[in-house]
Order: sequence, then C-alpha cells, then structure tokens
Amino acid sequence: MKVLGIETSCDETAASVVDGEAVLSSIVSSQEVHGKYGGIVPELAAREQLTAIRPVVRAALAEAGVEIAAIEGLAVTSGPGLAGSLAVGVAFAKSLALASGKPLVGVNHLEGHLFSVFIERPDFPMPAVVLIASGGHTALFSVAEKGKAVLLGQTVDDAAGEAFDKGARLLGLPYPGGPSIQKAAEKGNPKAVEFPRPMLKAENLEFSFAGLKTALAVFLQKHPEAAKERRADLAAAYQEAIVETLVEKSLSAAERVGARTVAVAGGVAANRRLRELLSLRAERKGLSVQIPALPYCTDNAAMIAFTGAFYLQLGKVSGPELEATPNLPLFSFAGV
Ligand SMILES: Nc1ncnc2c1ncn2[C@@H]1O[C@H](COP(=O)(O)OP(=O)(O)OP(=O)(O)O)[C@@H](O)[C@H]1O
Ligand SMILES: [Mg+2]
Repeated sequence: MKVLGIETSCDETAASVVDGEAVLSSIVSSQEVHGKYGGIVPELAAREQLTAIRPVVRAALAEAGVEIAAIEGLAVTSGPGLAGSLAVGVAFAKSLALASGKPLVGVNHLEGHLFSVFIERPDFPMPAVVLIASGGHTALFSVAEKGKAVLLGQTVDDAAGEAFDKGARLLGLPYPGGPSIQKAAEKGNPKAVEFPRPMLKAENLEFSFAGLKTALAVFLQKHPEAAKERRADLAAAYQEAIVETLVEKSLSAAERVGARTVAVAGGVAANRRLRELLSLRAERKGLSVQIPALPYCTDNAAMIAFTGAFYLQLGKVSGPELEATPNLPLFSFAGV
C-alpha cells in the first residue's frame, strides 16, 4: 500500500511516501529561524510550516516517482504538538484527501516515534521494550507486536531531550542542545564531575531529569569559570548521566517484562554515546538492540506514513472531523 505521510507537529516540515515495508522518499525541512532565540518560537514555527508544506509534499512525491493519483492513502500527525504547526499539516492533508478522494488517517506523533523502530528492521525478536526519548517525552513501553504497546513508565518532569537542551543553554552551547553537547563531550572526560543518576535506584520505571539540570546549574554557580574552561568535561559528564539513566532503566524494563529486544526512538536516540552504551550493556545480557538510523530518530514523516499504513490497512479512517489536537493524550493509541 502506497501511503503519503505528513508531519508538521513542531519545527520540522516533513513528507514521505512509503510502499509496504519500503520508504520511497522521506523529505525533512528543518527551520533555522529558532536558533537565535535559543528555543522554538511557536508563532514563527507555524508561519514557516505554511511556506514549506507545499514544496516539501511535492518533493516527497517527486523523489518517490509517484503521482498523487497512485497514492492509496494519506496519514498526518494530528497531535501532540504546537497548535499552529499541527493545524497547517492537518488542514493541508484534509484538503488533499478531499480533492484526491483518498482515505486519510490521523496519527499520534508519539506512536509514529514508536513505529520508527520497525522501519528498517520489521522482524527483530519480540517482545520488545521501546524507549521513546525525544524533545518533549521520555517513556518506556512494552511492545508485544506492532500496534500493541503498554506504557511502563515515563518522566515525572523534564524529558531527556529537554535535559540536553537546558544543559546546553547553561553551558553556553547552541540550540538544539543534544547535538551540541554530544560534540562538546567528544574531548571531555565523563568522570571529571559526578552528576546524579536520577531515579536509578527507584523500583519503578519512571524518569526525572529536572534535578540533574539543577545539579549542573548549582555546579556552575560555584564554579562560574567552568562553563568555558571545563566545558568539554562538563558536557561529557552531563551526557553520561542522562545516557546511563536511560540505558539502565531500559535494561531493567526489559528484564522485568522478559523482552528479547531493547529499542530506542526519538531525537535523543541519535546520541552516539547512548547508541554505544546501550549496545554494550544489552549485548552482555544477550538482548538484541534496535535503534533506527539517524534520519528516523528525529522528527520525520516516514514514521507517520508507516504508522498510517498500518491503521489504514486495518480499515481505520479519520473523517472530516479530524482536527489538530495539541494536547492529544500522549498515549492515546491502540493497545495502550
Ligand atoms: N545527538 C543527539 N544527542 C542527544 N540529543 C539529541 C541529539 N540529536 C537530537 N537530540 C535531541 O532530540 C530532541 C528533538 O527530538 P524530536 O525531534 O524527536 O523531539 P520533538 O519532536 O521536539 O519532541 P516530541 O517528539 O516529544 O514531540 C531535542 O531535544 C534534541 O536536543
Ligand atoms: Mg518528535
């Protein structure tokens, strides 16, 4: 089934055509405008979505070599996300569906991230534990099969990506914080400073990253010169604390539910140290590891098309009442 997916939940405009297991195209246009503000400005994000949506959808169809007439269904992110950004994608997809007579399904952005682990390797050993670690969410799921996920635990405060972004700002590193902390950490010693591993000893599968950010802020208050002079060490130690917490919690979740695979999705899954440490520690426990290629970790529309195709094949179609839902319950998808 050939499905066109559209994703506009935040500051990326993305479109993709998938055909069964194959990704025929995946175009992502990232907004540059927010860098100078140190974070996303919602009004600007929505305006940029408006100018990017048509060329991005056209480019996805052209790269796939598919006319809209040959598309069998459409999928669009309906939430959660920024109201203005989401509204652009949903309105565009609804108009296209109406004009072309194709069925349309609304997709939960988080379920898109969850499905992204299946894109390149649909047949990894099940059951799996999937960690979503992104800019706005950090949550662990037990996944028995595609479309059947049970929430095991999530963050009680900041998301892992948010911890990277806030930490980078404290260290005077550019937005987005994840890639810049990763880069600064390359030359640093992760053992130079001992930061807390939040909730690591807790029995539950919840996360908390607000205290870690405070620990960095307090350290910098005591040693104001360190933000410059010891930036690489601080970046490495801070990154290590986030990564080790994510890895250890995921492995204990896997043990608890008897998973055969540990998978990670979302922007933070792009982190090199996370990929390395998870592979190392999971291997020791005889667990298979599944982390998508970098373009499928951060926001993309292939994951939305992929999820949409799954539901369209089950006969699920959204009617004209589909609306952008910024506060769509995080885990309002099937089986959760
Ligand atoms: N190499 C990296 N290391 C660590 N973090 C990273 C890396 N690359 C990106 N990130 C982080 O990933 C986040 C963006 O991920 P993503 O695009 O999945 O989130 P989002 O769509 O903004 O949030 P959500 O999916 O929760 O709505 C940012 O916080 C960014 O700092
Ligand atoms: Mg995302």
